[in-house]
Amino acid sequence: MRVIVINGPNLNMLGVREKNFYGEKSLDAINEELLDLAKSFSMEIEFYQSNHEGEIVDKIQNCYGKKDYILINPGAYTHTSVAIRDALLSVDIPIVEIHLSNPYKRESFRYKSLIEDIVVGKIVGFGSTGYKMGLFYLNELRGAKR
Ligand code: DQA
Repeated sequence: MRVIVINGPNLNMLGVREKNFYGEKSLDAINEELLDLAKSFSMEIEFYQSNHEGEIVDKIQNCYGKKDYILINPGAYTHTSVAIRDALLSVDIPIVEIHLSNPYKRESFRYKSLIEDIVVGKIVGFGSTGYKMGLFYLNELRGAKR
């Protein structure tokens, strides 16, 4: 199983940025934990972060035929980016949406996700554990298919 974890804008600032919402861990620390977990599940995992919408679109397009699952936290683009939604739709790869914070406990402009209706499911409010929960789900899914 080939998985990519895509993080959008400002998620490179984890550990520094609004710790009350996003916690103390850096993105590198989160990704190291995910790498260990993926290894234990014998999954191939790649990590990508960008602050730029078009770069994220390029990366998603590049996943076509190369990845089996996309775990994505589009950051603020969750609420604004039709381009990222369209890119995700174009590659025909199942998607899990992750948010560290619970957007429904925050400003109302965060209530709407432009991808929530095209993802397998979304995990919100569990901090960095949410990414691991996504991998657990994929591992269970694979088990069920066997
Ligand atoms: C976020 C929530 C978004 O509203 C915000 O813009 C982010 C992070 C989260 O992980 O909780 O950058 O996606």
